[in-house]
Amino acid sequence: MMILAVESSCDETAVALVEDGRRVLTDCIASQVDLHRIYGGVVPEIASRKHVETIDSLASQALEQAGLTRRDIDAIAVTYAPGLIGAVLVGVNFAKAAALALGVPLIPVHHIRGHIAANYLAYPALEPPFVCLVVSGGHTMLVDVAGYTQMRILGGTLDDAAGECFDKVARVLDMPYPGGAALDRRAKLGHEGRYALPRARAGENPLDMSFSGLKTAAINLIHNARQKGEEIVVEDLCAGFSAAVSDTLVPRAMAALAGTGYRKLAVAGGVAANSRIRADLTAAARSAGAELYMPPLSLCGDNGAMIGAQGYYEFLAGNVADMTLNAYATKSILGEAL
Ligand code: KG4
Ligand code: ZN
Repeated sequence: MMILAVESSCDETAVALVEDGRRVLTDCIASQVDLHRIYGGVVPEIASRKHVETIDSLASQALEQAGLTRRDIDAIAVTYAPGLIGAVLVGVNFAKAAALALGVPLIPVHHIRGHIAANYLAYPALEPPFVCLVVSGGHTMLVDVAGYTQMRILGGTLDDAAGECFDKVARVLDMPYPGGAALDRRAKLGHEGRYALPRARAGENPLDMSFSGLKTAAINLIHNARQKGEEIVVEDLCAGFSAAVSDTLVPRAMAALAGTGYRKLAVAGGVAANSRIRADLTAAARSAGAELYMPPLSLCGDNGAMIGAQGYYEFLAGNVADMTLNAYATKSILGEAL
C-alpha cells in the first residue's frame, strides 16, 4: 500500500511516500527554521503561510523523486494533531483535497504517534510491544506501545517539555533558534561537574517528570553570573544541563521498561538526537540487558515518513476519516481531547 504522507504541524513542511508502513521511497522536508530564526522562535502566522506556499510543489517533488504518479497513491495520511492550529490546518486541508480528488482513503495521524513510528522505519523488524521515551520540543512522555495503535501513557512531564528547556537555555546563552542541537554540540566540549543543577522529582507517579525548575535554575545561574560580571564557562554549563536532563529521563525510561516487563525500549522526537541522552540510554540498556531502538538523527526531528509509517497501521486498524476531519492544537496520544 502506497501512502502519501503530509506533515505541517510546526516549522517543517514535509511530504513523504511510504510503502506498507516500512519502506520510504522519498521523504521531502522544507524547513522554515531560517525564516523563524530572526524572531527567536516559531511565528505561527508565518509558519502557516509558508506551509501554504510550499505544500503543493513539495508533494509534486515527492512524486517525481519516487518516480510515481498520482495514480500510484493508495491513501493520504496527515498529521491532524497536535501542533500550531493554523499550520496543522494547512496539511489537513491539502490532504482532504488530495484524498477527495484521487478517491482514496484519508488517514488522520497523531504527530506523537508518528514520532514513535519513526522507529519502524529505522528498524524494519521492530514490532510492539515496547516502551517509547518520547522527547520533542512540545512533549516529554513515556508510552507503553502495546500495539501499533494501542498505547498507554506511563508518565510524563508535569510542566515543560525537555526540548522547550533546551531551547530556552540555549536562547539565554545567545545560541540561534532552535538551540537544542547547538547546546548539545557545546556540551560535548565541556565538563558537567562545574555547575550544580537540580534533578527534580515530580508528583506521586515516579515516572512523572518536571523540567521547569531545572530550566529556571540554569537561566538564573546565567543571569546572576552576568550581573556580577563573571564569565560563564558555556561548555561546562551545557554539559551540566544536558546531564541533568538525561538524569531525569533515562532512569525513568528504564523503570518504565522494568514495570511493563518488556525487553524493548525505543526513543522518539527531536530531543532523541541528543548525544548525552543517547549515550546514557545506551549504557543503561546494556547494563539492564534491554534492546534499545534509537532512530538516526534524520528520523528524530519532524518528517513526513514517520506519518506515513504510522498512517499504515492506523489504516489497518480502521482509523480513517471523512471530509469532516478537523485539525486540533491539542489532543492526547490516545485520541482524547485535552
Ligand atoms: O520533534 P521535534 O522536531 O519537533 C516537535 O515535535 O516538537 O523536536 C524539536 C526539538 C527542539 O526543541 C530542538 O531544539 C530539539 O528537538 N533538539 C535537540 C537536539 N536536536 C534537536 N535537543 C537537544 N539535543 C539535540 N541534539
Ligand atoms: Zn515533532
